[in-house]
Amino acid sequence: MDIIVNNLQKGFGGAPVIKDVSLTVKEGERVAIIGPNGSGKTTLLRLLNLMIFPDQGSIELAGKKVNGLGVKEARTVRRGIATIYQSHNLIPRFKVINNVLAGKLGSWPTSKALFSLLIKPLEEAGVREVLEKTELEDKIYWRTDRLSGGQQQRVAIARALFQNPNLLLADEPFASLDPRSGEKLIRILLGWSQQKNKTLIVTLHHLEFALAHFPRIIALKNGMVFFDLPTGQVTPEHLQQLYGDSYQGV
Ligand SMILES: Nc1ncnc2c1ncn2[C@@H]1O[C@H](COP(=O)(O)OP(=O)(O)OP(=O)(O)O)[C@@H](O)[C@H]1O
Ligand SMILES: [Mg+2]
Repeated sequence: MDIIVNNLQKGFGGAPVIKDVSLTVKEGERVAIIGPNGSGKTTLLRLLNLMIFPDQGSIELAGKKVNGLGVKEARTVRRGIATIYQSHNLIPRFKVINNVLAGKLGSWPTSKALFSLLIKPLEEAGVREVLEKTELEDKIYWRTDRLSGGQQQRVAIARALFQNPNLLLADEPFASLDPRSGEKLIRILLGWSQQKNKTLIVTLHHLEFALAHFPRIIALKNGMVFFDLPTGQVTPEHLQQLYGDSYQGV
């Protein structure tokens, strides 16, 4: 999915937290968004997935302006976008399989969705496939709240892949994963994007991950794009200026 963002501004009553953001992301690109706490990363992702709408500026997704869309049209656009949130938004009492299936509920007719939820989960084979990728196939019928935090995060990643979106947004998806799991899952997301030519945008505090795996880095600071560079051009000085005294080096 191509993304064109122009002069975006968003506040929540007080001063704007996204001040003036413009960027273009091409279909199939893999981008890491970095920046200090509160710099606006999550807010930018929520603008891109139409959970919130900008105060000023415009967003174009796949050639379509999405600012002023009505509820129904916005829902249709959202179906093509999967988001993995910082807090992973799973339903704790649900079995893993039902949480993964939730990725497609929005595009299923109500009767199918209800049958799958209440009577018998549908598309089990597809769910098994994504759970194999995230190494959770043996937990498919477990209650989600019995899993560890990192395992739940992997369920959220499986759900996003199962949705088969055109744009995948992930907000700190590896925060609760151990290094080996994080490394593996980042390869799965990157491989998915590369093979299917789908756009992947991931916010990351883990700079080593960002620099090692993503071809392009966008840094936000105080609600503005601080730099937007091919990874090879990002220098320690850039990172030092971005994080200030808290920067320890990678
Ligand atoms: N719903 C909201 N209401 C009021 N303020 C908000 C809301 N959402 C975000 N903010 C404010 O916007 C600023 C940017 O928040 P955001 O969550 O986008 O930062 P972030 O870059 O994702 O930070 P982190 O690295 O901690 O996840 C913060 O100062 C935050 O308090
Ligand atoms: Mg955030």
